[in-house]
Order: sequence, then structure tokens, then C-alpha cells
Amino acid sequence: MALEFRGVSKEFESRTGGMMTAVDSVSFRVDEGEFVSVVGPSGCGKSTILSMTAGLYQPTVGDVLVSGEKVTGPNQHVGFMLQKDLLLPWRSIVHNIEFGLESRGVARDERRAIAMKELKHCHLDGFEGHYPYQLSGGMRQRAALARTLAIDPEIILLDEPFSALDAQTKMLLQNSFAETISESRKTTLLITHDLAEAVLMSDRILVLSERPGRVIAEIKVDLPHRERPLQRRKLPEVNNYAAQLFELLKLEEKTI
Ligand SMILES: Nc1ncnc2c1ncn2[C@@H]1O[C@H](COP(=O)(O)OP(=O)(O)OP(=O)(O)O)[C@@H](O)[C@H]1O
Ligand SMILES: [Mg+2]
Repeated sequence: MALEFRGVSKEFESRTGGMMTAVDSVSFRVDEGEFVSVVGPSGCGKSTILSMTAGLYQPTVGDVLVSGEKVTGPNQHVGFMLQKDLLLPWRSIVHNIEFGLESRGVARDERRAIAMKELKHCHLDGFEGHYPYQLSGGMRQRAALARTLAIDPEIILLDEPFSALDAQTKMLLQNSFAETISESRKTTLLITHDLAEAVLMSDRILVLSERPGRVIAEIKVDLPHRERPLQRRKLPEVNNYAAQLFELLKLEEKTI
């Protein structure tokens, strides 16, 4: 097993000085090579779950285990793309991808070789000398994925990587990410608001309640073509899964 949450709760100090529970008694497992999505209402603790997996926050109660070992801080087993992940604007794409390798002390030639491999892997060859502002939104997301893969983590964590993109770019990028991730056989945890996206990309979906986030359902997506969301999209069963999520999140009963 690659990742396990054992009875994890997380409290934050609220603005009034009291404590606020963001995540409540969450337990789940993700097997090696599995692609699991987390869906749930805004503010229910999804990004907090991701940050605890990355070792950026510690749980208030319970344990997070990666490959059987307790996560106590940021570590090389986990690579992540945060919700507001930005490339460093003053660095070219290849230098952005090399960033994590530099801080690990990987020698220059080796670093460049790895970065060029991941650039190709993410279909960005030819753009290594460009700066982030010279790329489209979809290309920037691919560069951020290349940077995450460059450190060769066992687990990759993605927080809403496609949410700022137009519908068609999003579909193509979902496909491209799914292909790249399958090829590299990475265990993946994807946070998303997009119910269809969760069905199209995952082996399994965790559904969280309103804050404090609890796991209210775990849905196994029993459909082929995990590595080709565009192909999976054509299957009629996709709608049944999306409808099931829609029911679980009680969207019909909500107003904002
Ligand atoms: N560092 C922090 N300090 C205090 N409160 C925090 C911190 N990080 C998150 N929170 C609170 O924890 C709750 C869960 O936040 P989180 O960002 O995990 O939600 P989310 O499910 O990712 O939401 P969204 O879907 O809008 O991204 C929110 O109420 C948020 O205000
Ligand atoms: Mg979030």
C-alpha cells in the first residue's frame, strides 16, 4: 500500500481564537499505482488532506503513512502540485523543472538530462528556453507536472490542476496527464470539484462531507481506459457514476 490515513483529524485556530475542525476522523488507503480522486464541497478540507500527505501540515490526531512510514515532514516520496501552484516566473521552463533536483544536490548534467526527459514526457520539447509567461495555461500546468515528476516521487498529489482552464483544454490535459501518469506508474491522489473529471480519471473516488470533512462514500470506478479519459468519456456508464456522486453531495438540495 502506498498511502494510508489512519483516523486523521486536523484542527486550525479560528479567527476568533477558538479551534476549528477542518478534517474529522478520516481513514482511507491508496494502493500502489492506484489513481484516487477526492471530491467534496468547498472548504471541506480537501487541500488540507493533500497538505498533510505532503508533510506540509501535521495531523492534530491520527497518522498519515506513506509506504508504511509515518509522514513527519516534506519528503522525497511525495511530489505535489498545489492548488495555486505557480512556476517561478524568473526561471525558464527547463530551470523550473530542475528546481527540485537542484535543492537535492543532483549534479548539473544529470539534472538537465532528467528535466529534458520530463519535458518530452509532458509534450513540451522545444519550449525548454521559454519563460512561464510565454506559455499557455495548459502548457504551464504540463510544466508543473513535469517538475513534479522530475523528482521521481512514489506518490503524486494534484490539487485542482485543471480548474482554471477552458473546457476543451481541460479535456485534452486530463488525457495528457492520465497518459503520463499511467506510463510512469505513479500512485496518484487528485483533488477536484469536477465530478465528471473524477469519474473519467480515477480507479476510486472518495466523497467527503461538508466541513469538517469526513469520508461519506468510497466509489470504485469499474470502467476501462483509465489512461484515456477521452475514450472513457464515451462510455454511457460514466453518467451513472456522476449521478451517484451528485446524489451523495446532495447538490439538488443546495443553494448558494
Ligand atoms: N493554514 C490554515 N489556517 C487556518 N485555517 C485553515 C488553514 N488551511 C485551511 N484552513 C481552513 O480549513 C478548512 C478547509 O480548508 P481546505 O483548503 O482544506 O478546503 P478545500 O476542501 O480544499 O476547499 P476548496 O474546495 O475551496 O479548495 C477551511 O475552513 C479553511 O479556512
Ligand atoms: Mg482546496
